[in-house]
Amino acid sequence: MDKELLTQEVLRLKAERQAVILAHSYQLPEVQEVADFVGDSLGLAREAERTPAKVIVFAGVHFMAETAAILNPDKTVLLPDLEAGCSLADSLRPEDVLAWKAAHPEGIVVAYVNTRAEVKALADVCVTSANAVEVVARLPQDRPILFVPDMFLGAHVARVTGRRLHLFPGECHVHAGIREEHLKALLETHPGAEFLIHPECGCGSGCLYLKPDAKMLSTEGMVRYARRAEAREFVVATEVGILHRLAKEAPGKTFVPVKPDAVCEYMKRITLEKVYLSLKEMRYAVGVPEEVAGRARRALEAMVAVG
Ligand code: 13P
Ligand code: SF4
Repeated sequence: MDKELLTQEVLRLKAERQAVILAHSYQLPEVQEVADFVGDSLGLAREAERTPAKVIVFAGVHFMAETAAILNPDKTVLLPDLEAGCSLADSLRPEDVLAWKAAHPEGIVVAYVNTRAEVKALADVCVTSANAVEVVARLPQDRPILFVPDMFLGAHVARVTGRRLHLFPGECHVHAGIREEHLKALLETHPGAEFLIHPECGCGSGCLYLKPDAKMLSTEGMVRYARRAEAREFVVATEVGILHRLAKEAPGKTFVPVKPDAVCEYMKRITLEKVYLSLKEMRYAVGVPEEVAGRARRALEAMVAVG
């Protein structure tokens, strides 16, 4: 089937199944185009709760579909390809968190949503890149805090909040590969551009050393900022799927990727054809055993309630 026919079939089946398609901003352009909602991890979690639809096709990665399933045990959450994982979520095991908790019985565990359900079940609160600063700033001052699993995001949160955080040495292979040298090259070729940087990036505080007015933002934060900013040109440090969304939401402005090969192969496993097959055959349902989901839900609800 060609792309146009596949699009029509996806839209027809979506209506027939009374389903919604939720897509992350790193998805392929043709997948974003059939979605009812495109956003970041926080927006997707909120939308999954808000939608009255009983069937959610999740065009994203496994931890995102799992989050939707945890928050909505009465809805069917479908992930078109179960191999759409996340190197960051896979870097941390529940045992790692348990070991820290054993050494710090009074400690607080903050888990980035890019974690498996079993890790969320051990956390006190979840965060996304959009609300991590706000959530951590509100935590009690007198207790040790473990931030898992992304060390670059954790270091950014520690810097902004002034809080001392225990960091797990995890990273996203796509963002960790965005380094200071990539930024440096673009500073010279695009001196008038604004720099938008995802806090998972490996350049970390080095980005701010090179470009003190760079904006450290979640993917949705980038879209919002680019829409309202006066600037006409932006250098963007994150996965390149965001460029489609930025061009669409801030027309007439120019977006230059810091690293054009910053591509998440997990996100790209979700093709239009797999979305079609997912709707046609109602596959693959993502569920979390209630004993794990119940504990993970508390940490996620604590997050969704903030901001
Ligand atoms: P956000 O879209 O929440 O900024 O997260 C980025 C990411 O890496 C998701 O996998
Ligand atoms: Fe995971 Fe990184 Fe891909 Fe996001 S971009 S899904 S953090 S591997």
